[in-house]
Amino acid sequence: MTKLTVLSVVAASLLLVGCGEEVKETAKAATETVAEKTSAAVDTTKEAASAVAEKTTEVATDAVDATKEAASTVAEKTTEVATDAKDAVVEKTSAAVDTTKEAASAVAEKTAEVATDAKDAVVETAGDAVDATKEAATAAVEKTAEVATDAKEAVVETAAATTDAAAEKVEESKEAVAEKVAAPAVDLAACAACHGTDFEKVAMGVSKVVKDMSKEDIATALKGYQDGSYGGNMKALMKGQVAGWDAAKIEAVSAQIAK
Ligand code: HEC
Repeated sequence: MTKLTVLSVVAASLLLVGCGEEVKETAKAATETVAEKTSAAVDTTKEAASAVAEKTTEVATDAVDATKEAASTVAEKTTEVATDAKDAVVEKTSAAVDTTKEAASAVAEKTAEVATDAKDAVVETAGDAVDATKEAATAAVEKTAEVATDAKEAVVETAAATTDAAAEKVEESKEAVAEKVAAPAVDLAACAACHGTDFEKVAMGVSKVVKDMSKEDIATALKGYQDGSYGGNMKALMKGQVAGWDAAKIEAVSAQIAK
């Protein structure tokens, strides 16, 4: 606005210049006034501009300072926060590391413990197994020895029994043979018709039951029939039965019948 006013004044002055000497004077004065006013306006404008510039500079400076300050504060704050964060991270990391170390240590300890336990258990089990095996082996050896001993004893016993039985049989056989040799069997079938198979009858209704007589009495009777010194009414009959018998045969037959 001020600039337009100045320009209008200048234009009017220029128009007035064209109107002669008076006009020239007037114009000159006007021009001077205009120049003065313009100068004053310029000065005012300069001053204002200067003030604006100063203010602007001041404001800008303030702004810059404020910005700087704010930036600084922000930087400081950021550094602080970063430091805090770093510290916190370091602290947390340290704690985490400690916890991890602790956990690792605990795991290691537990693992070592479990491994030791497992080893102990294995050693114990192995020991038990060895003991059980030894025991079983010892029992087997003992049982085998026992069985072997029993078998040996049984064999010895059986052998002894067999030997005894054999010896007994031999003895029996020997005795039987000796008996046979001592008393050769005589065929007494001829006697059975009158005296019965076992001399259990009363021959012809008159004789004694010969099987009930003693060996001595039988022998005495038979010898008596030979020489006529024994018997009853039918002694002649019996003399014929034993004719030709020697003393040995009479002895053997007497023993055989008396039993
Ligand atoms: C035919 C029948 C007859 C025959 C066989 C016979 N006996 Fe006799 N025996 C008699 C009569 C009978 C008497 C009783 C005689 C008497 O003493 O009167 C007798 C008696 C005896 C007696 C004595 C018994 C007593 O009463 O004292 C003797 C022992 C005997 N006989 C043994 C034998 C023998 C051993 C034989 C076979 C080798 C035999 N006799 C065959 C009939 C027989």
